[in-house]
Amino acid sequence: SLLSAFLAFCTLGLAGRVQTTRDDVRRFPDGFLFGTATASYQVEGGWDEDGKSENIWDYLTHTSPCTISDCSNGDIADDSYHLYKRDVEMMRELGLDFYRFSMSWSRLLPTGFPDQINEGGVNYYNNLINEMLKYNIQPMITLYHWDLPQRLQELGGWANPHVVDWFGDYARVAFEQFGDRVKYWMTINEPREVCDEGYGDVNLAPLLDSKGIGEYMCVKNLLVAHARAYHIYNDEYKSKYGGEVGIAFSARWYEPASDSEIDIQAAEDFTAFTWIKYVHPIYSETGDYPPIMKEKVAAKSAEQGFFRSRLPEFTQEEIEYVRGSSDFFGLNHYTTFLVYRNESIYDANPVPSLFDDADIGSYHHPDWEETASSWFKVVPWGFYKLLTSIRENYNNPPIFITENGFSNRGGLQDDDRVRFYRNYLSAMLDAMDEGSDVRAYAAWSLMDNFEWLSGYTERFGLYEVDYDCPERTRTPRKSAFVYKEIVRTRALDL
Ligand code: NOJ
Repeated sequence: SLLSAFLAFCTLGLAGRVQTTRDDVRRFPDGFLFGTATASYQVEGGWDEDGKSENIWDYLTHTSPCTISDCSNGDIADDSYHLYKRDVEMMRELGLDFYRFSMSWSRLLPTGFPDQINEGGVNYYNNLINEMLKYNIQPMITLYHWDLPQRLQELGGWANPHVVDWFGDYARVAFEQFGDRVKYWMTINEPREVCDEGYGDVNLAPLLDSKGIGEYMCVKNLLVAHARAYHIYNDEYKSKYGGEVGIAFSARWYEPASDSEIDIQAAEDFTAFTWIKYVHPIYSETGDYPPIMKEKVAAKSAEQGFFRSRLPEFTQEEIEYVRGSSDFFGLNHYTTFLVYRNESIYDANPVPSLFDDADIGSYHHPDWEETASSWFKVVPWGFYKLLTSIRENYNNPPIFITENGFSNRGGLQDDDRVRFYRNYLSAMLDAMDEGSDVRAYAAWSLMDNFEWLSGYTERFGLYEVDYDCPERTRTPRKSAFVYKEIVRTRALDL
């Protein structure tokens, strides 16, 4: 009887262990990749070390420090320029398949051009890449994450059509130096933020405030520059190295504020004017900008006395050059907005936010959970709807989630962030269950870092970084342990 009790215990114990079909455990498909992401200016520091030149964020933070909410800068940031081995150790602690980071153009090419390839920069990225590869962590590299060499900005930056050559040359240097070991490349991080927030509004460097003019020059030049880098890789490196090149779009989900026709149309137009204007030229069958945007800008420009549309046209050759120029759909996603063109809602929320379609407005529902970032409330179902719409409208492309994450004010006991990851990953799995081809997921961010105009006041890290100590000590938060467990089990235990 003692024996049978023991046997019963064993059987029960075993049953507990082999059971794999609990319906509150959701599995990720075989081959799914987990990672985290960062960007050069936000983590590297070493702003003028070993030959690096000034970029537009060095320039902005040095010339007008208190444009940044805590008057800080990225001079030292997380000091990853010196602490990259600790960074790789953290990647190992988390068990990551890949790490997404960006290269600093002004660290590799201090003049902005390939006449001087900076050895200090080449060494730094070689060291980082080789250290990762030792532990089988794949590098996923973004060529441009917002830190343009200041000298190129003085020549007009992304508003100068020659940026297509400048960016292509820079990309070629990177492929040449690192392409033997790097299989995933992203050309540009978040085109909408680069152009709409940097050249249209004054939310990111270079704070140009050229809405509908410099902004749209940037849009066109950036898309052609992206395509240039894609074709250089495709024509000259792909057969040798076999890697992939994509782009990382930022996309919010825009939900109609009511079920009226007028709001449904408003949400669609808003989407076209914000991020779809970057997606459509690359991913649609026709190429070019969304037709609704072309029409509206042309009409408004004529009304304003312009002799041509403020939206620079693509030639037929450029349309074909840009169309299809991406091996995977990189997607940064954080939040959802309600969109209206309905007067009753409009009166209550009078914040028109579209320049060329000025009676459209957007807002966050007051009940949605807040984060530390003003633009960001937590809406997991928006992630599901966004993935579904990409699958349906763009022929189900392979998607890499190149960023997703949560901001608070710090602290190790980040239950809010844990909840965020569980709910957003679960929404992503809902879309995958219905066929969305999501292949990789990068949490933003590996660690706290310089959050642009918000400095160090908004924390996105799985690891907390102590900015009061010169060692920039990194400590895992609760979310780091939870993410590690998700990566280890390849499952979401709800
Ligand atoms: C988007 C950007 O790519 C990244 O640089 C930024 O820190 C995060 N989102 C959070 O705002």
